[in-house]
Amino acid sequence: MSVKNKKILLIIGGGIAAYKSLDLIRLLKKNNNDVKAILTDSGKEFVTPLSITTLTKNKTFENLFDKNSEADIDHISLSRWADIIVVLPTTANFMTKLSLGKAEDLATTVILASNKDILLVPAMNVRMWIHKATQKNVKILQDYGYLFLGPEKGEMACGEYGEGKMASPRQIFSYLGNYFNKKDLFKKKRIKALVTAGPTREYLDPVRYISNESSGKQGYEIAHALNRLGIKTTLITGPSNLISKKEIKTKKIISANEMFEAVKKCLPVDIAICAAAVADFKPIIKSKTKIKKDNIKCKSIELERNRDIVEFLGKNNKHRPSLVIGFAAETENLNKNAFSKLRQKNCDLIVVNDISKKDSGLNSDYNRVSIIDNSGKIKVIKKNKKSFIANAIAEIVLDKFLINDRSFN
Ligand code: PMT
Repeated sequence: MSVKNKKILLIIGGGIAAYKSLDLIRLLKKNNNDVKAILTDSGKEFVTPLSITTLTKNKTFENLFDKNSEADIDHISLSRWADIIVVLPTTANFMTKLSLGKAEDLATTVILASNKDILLVPAMNVRMWIHKATQKNVKILQDYGYLFLGPEKGEMACGEYGEGKMASPRQIFSYLGNYFNKKDLFKKKRIKALVTAGPTREYLDPVRYISNESSGKQGYEIAHALNRLGIKTTLITGPSNLISKKEIKTKKIISANEMFEAVKKCLPVDIAICAAAVADFKPIIKSKTKIKKDNIKCKSIELERNRDIVEFLGKNNKHRPSLVIGFAAETENLNKNAFSKLRQKNCDLIVVNDISKKDSGLNSDYNRVSIIDNSGKIKVIKKNKKSFIANAIAEIVLDKFLINDRSFN
């Protein structure tokens, strides 16, 4: 798959594989892509600004404080200009800087200020790659949402053999082709998704409410993962401290009823993913003033059921999204209970999380889930970061659309 008519920002790092960046630039230019490059100080030991400028037909960017172009504020304008940023070779040292969030030169500052996807293409000695410190950095960076390609197994410039060889310019080129193909498919089709996240609050009076421990993390991560695929995503969220990306339309609500109304307003959509922990019940009476202790005569609160939002979507005759994914928070008989929820609410998939464990689920950075489809097929994802689980769900969404819609092929 080839990549055409895109704006690619390369960051060329300090490793012998830097020379391959020149071949990649040629390949990209031959296919009508606009290429700009930042050359790091250590990258300059391997390739020159002159060779890069000759091939890109653009100035080579080198300094954070450039008297000739700082009016453009390069560290902001470069990432806004690019469709993607590719770092090659990504050295062990550069990964450490990124995982620490450093902004000490133009390359690291552009990345920290970036609103675009960043593809890291590592290359280093095999021992450096498998070192625990490097692997820890890989995990941190994956969690931040950085994309990785390679490294490959092979003979390295140092003469040793193993994992550490940089992906070839051809491999990088076809990775970019696939990446943009997926993104453009969803964009072209104007695929729209809605995601619900967080808890709801059901007020008894102006200060007291019924709610739960949901933080919104799982739902926010899903919205971000869908957005990365190029899907126009609306996030409808209960009270949460999290901040969503600017590109995600975010509607904040408080109660289940408000969430239901916001979901209705958002229709029609193609995909609905309901990760919110919606309160099943609300107090029948909500006092306009704070209830005084002395005034409480009975010791029970009368409740009534809230509308079931995912069921409303799953059984919607007029605007049923073509993919409805519900969640199930369970402590026992996980798969059985989740599958009956899938049936009852007419979902296409249900993601069941085991909330009996303290180290995952509600208000944790981690989750352990099984994803069940309407034929009962189960995919288990062991304990992992919620961002990882969100990406796995986004991949399933992608597969479903590729299968369901022949014109996607
Ligand atoms: O927010 P986090 O801290 O990251 O935690 C994530 C999570 C554990 C809350 C999330 O992964 C999750 O499991 N969400 C669903 C929790 C839940 O309410 O499950 P349930 O089994 O009670 O509901 C089943 C499904 O019906 C859910 O998709 C829920 O959003 C939906 N529902 C429930 C009630 C209602 N009135 N309307 C609904 O749409």
